[in-house]
Amino acid sequence: MRKKIIAGNWKMNKTVAEALALVDGLKAELASCMDVEVVVCPPFTALKSVGDVLAGTQIKLGCQNMSSEDDGAYTGEISHAMLRDLSVKYVILGHSERREYYKETDFWVNKKVKKALEKNLRPIVCVGEKLADRESGNTEKVVEEQIRGSLAGITAEQFENVVVAYEPVWAIGTGKTATSEQAQEVHAFIRSIIRDMVGEKAAKGLRIQYGGSMKASNAKELLSQPDIDGGLIGGAALEARSFVDIVKAGI
Ligand code: 13P
Repeated sequence: MRKKIIAGNWKMNKTVAEALALVDGLKAELASCMDVEVVVCPPFTALKSVGDVLAGTQIKLGCQNMSSEDDGAYTGEISHAMLRDLSVKYVILGHSERREYYKETDFWVNKKVKKALEKNLRPIVCVGEKLADRESGNTEKVVEEQIRGSLAGITAEQFENVVVAYEPVWAIGTGKTATSEQAQEVHAFIRSIIRDMVGEKAAKGLRIQYGGSMKASNAKELLSQPDIDGGLIGGAALEARSFVDIVKAGI
């Protein structure tokens, strides 16, 4: 039985004051939520303040990127040790916005995934096809390549600490959600690739989130699909009410 995991990706939003206001609202309703694992991923600048407020609650802290290196001359980068220092547990890696705007390739995502696992951070590894890929019938080809590339060399045992997020790029921030059938089909496909890579047990245990215009009104149906084990929420995570309602849809 896989425990559902709902994570809020705040992207480049929220000053510290705004982040604190949002997290206060989340804490009021979700501080002791045990049925669903709840994660919030604020921008780096708000991690410390948000983490302090979340201490002692069931809500876990995540971030949106991480360096593949340990330390040294990497201007502008943030290391695993800096994140662990702030009680960060999860790190989103390979988000389509990082792949698209910052040219992150599967090679780099894979390096970061390995580093995160080695340093006891849990990666949320994002994959997903673009509209042109879907329209040309290449969804499975693109997703398989991203899964095999981003997760190369990860052992069955390490997979226990991995979360995969399927985020069709055409559904992100567009209001266009994949139908629950479309999402379920790709989720089951991803699980079959993982089965082929590391075996049945790891594939069965892996949690696969859906992301892309998920909101309170469509969450229940998406989350009731057999291979959809949670959500990675962008826009609807920026307001306490809508995020709380999505978490409740997962209970
Ligand atoms: P939206 O929920 O705004 O579509 O964003 C999804 C996403 O990219 C989460 O990582």
